[in-house]
Amino acid sequence: MPTKNWPNVTVVQHPVIQQELTRARDVNTSVEDFRRLVGQIAGLMAFEITRDYPTETYTVQTPIGPAEGKRLARELTLVPILRAGLGMVEPVLQLLPTARVGHIGIYRDEKTLQPVTYYQKFPPNIANTDVIVIDPMLATAGSVNATIACLKEHNVTAIKVLCLLAAPEGIEKLMAAHPDVSLFTAAVDEKLNDKGYIVPGLGDAGDRLFGTL
Ligand code: PRP
Ligand code: URA
Repeated sequence: MPTKNWPNVTVVQHPVIQQELTRARDVNTSVEDFRRLVGQIAGLMAFEITRDYPTETYTVQTPIGPAEGKRLARELTLVPILRAGLGMVEPVLQLLPTARVGHIGIYRDEKTLQPVTYYQKFPPNIANTDVIVIDPMLATAGSVNATIACLKEHNVTAIKVLCLLAAPEGIEKLMAAHPDVSLFTAAVDEKLNDKGYIVPGLGDAGDRLFGTL
């Protein structure tokens, strides 16, 4: 449901998502289980984020006769933020197999927490598609805001963000910079610590996904 202070923010409260998220947070969860849990949550949340996507009507022939049905009316592009966004792409593609995938590589400078963009490759028709930016963590929002700015430079107008955990500080920054963008998250945590980590969060998502702890 949308949150009171942020009409463009949806916290997906489904009990299975909350159960899997809690297991992912657990410091004792192995890399293998963490990867599987992040994928499961992403796949479940993909249902929610596509709920209001427009459909068009078309006709198929069943063995008995014609049947009017529906398909998504617009093309979709998934844009995972490297590295950790990669852990969510495949399960979302299982639900949306015709989506294109654009990649953007961004890391946070450890001292300044500013985003550093090192890679970018988008499908040529991205401006005509609905884009879902994918990253498990929204902390200061530096990475996601840099991604959205880059997409807007490519004339993209329909953007949603899919994450697992968001900090209130990051949500404020995202909504202030991009009020036209909607955010879907499985939880809004308490705050950021002085190193820019989400509290209680789940630690460093990229390190936990790829075993680089
Ligand atoms: C993490 C995470 C986000 C970013 C969030 O990536 O996956 O991209 O931090 O923080 P922000 O909202 O303050 O920008 P990280 O910088 O650790 O890069 P990595 O996954 O490549 O290690
Ligand atoms: N990036 C992460 O991976 N975790 C955090 O808590 C903040 C940024």
